[in-house]
Amino acid sequence: ILPKNVTIIEVGPRDGLQNEQKLVHTQDKLAFIQALQQAGIEEMELTSFVSPKWVPQMADAKEIVERSERIGRQFVLTPNEKGVDLAIEAGAKSVAFFVGVSNSFNKKNINRTTAESMEAITPLIQNLKAQNIFVRACISTAFYCPYEGKIQQEDVIQLCKKFVKLGVDELSVADTIGKANPVESYNLFLALLNELPNILITAHFHDTRKMALANIFASLQAGVQRFDTSAGGLGGCPFAPGATGNVATEDVVHLLDSLGIHTGIDVEKVCEAVTLIEPHVSRPIETGMYKLFKSP
Ligand code: HMG
Ligand code: MG
Repeated sequence: ILPKNVTIIEVGPRDGLQNEQKLVHTQDKLAFIQALQQAGIEEMELTSFVSPKWVPQMADAKEIVERSERIGRQFVLTPNEKGVDLAIEAGAKSVAFFVGVSNSFNKKNINRTTAESMEAITPLIQNLKAQNIFVRACISTAFYCPYEGKIQQEDVIQLCKKFVKLGVDELSVADTIGKANPVESYNLFLALLNELPNILITAHFHDTRKMALANIFASLQAGVQRFDTSAGGLGGCPFAPGATGNVATEDVVHLLDSLGIHTGIDVEKVCEAVTLIEPHVSRPIETGMYKLFKSP
């Protein structure tokens, strides 16, 4: 049985843009964010408070948070105490941490082992929960790691359980390099939903091998009702070679519309948002619904 409603968490302004070499002007990012909100998006990753030396594209995080409309739930990513402090100072009300199941990936991404990251963010999460801030935990390399290969399902579940114990509100579980297949997706999400029934579970698929829509359908069958997607299929992690774009918001909403599953999001308006960002990114946008939108 498929769900009747699905929540889309738009990650385009963050995951979608972080890997772009040429700096996108803050004004253009804000216009993109606003157009996405007008398309009906109520949960979005706006930006990340990370080292501007590591990810120059996110250096305007403070301005993005301060100048975007407060619609729905807006996440900012933070890797450490400095990021959390800057995020809260800018007015963020929902914070996302990111940790890799794979140590090698976590080291490349955050310069710490997974255990070191967990130790460092534990008091930060406890402190945020004491202030009633919504905390999301993004679990990278939940299926495959670009450095270590296949990841064991049990290792993912163990890491997720640690976050649940810390009191986070949501787990966003990621196929970082777009290598999972529908059976792996179904099995992991079914296990997570069964073992962790009292937390929001979100699936985050990259579309490197064009498997993401199939994985989303399999995850829906497992009972997942929340998906991270990126308008225009933009995206990729600079520290995960092979991580191309996230699955496209417009294609996922179209799939869900066709199945009679409600999202509250207007595909045409998502495509209008894509027209705003397309001139500022390095590659042409060729998602199924966007191509149809441009030449119906
Ligand atoms: P480090 O070099 O070990 O950190 O990097 P450090 O503590 O030694 O600091 C180095 C410099 O950065 C210092 O500045 C700090 O002040 C500054 P300096 O004294 O040299 O001038 N700094 C900061 N500045 C602003 N905000 C901060 C911050 N922290 C330190 N928060 C660090 C460690 C974690 C900082 C670095 O590795 C980093 O920023 N990594 C971020 C990587 C990243 O953004 N990756 C992409 C997001 S994750 C992702 O895309 C995956 C996901 O989509 C799910 C999936 O698909 O798998 C979520
Ligand atoms: Mg990602």
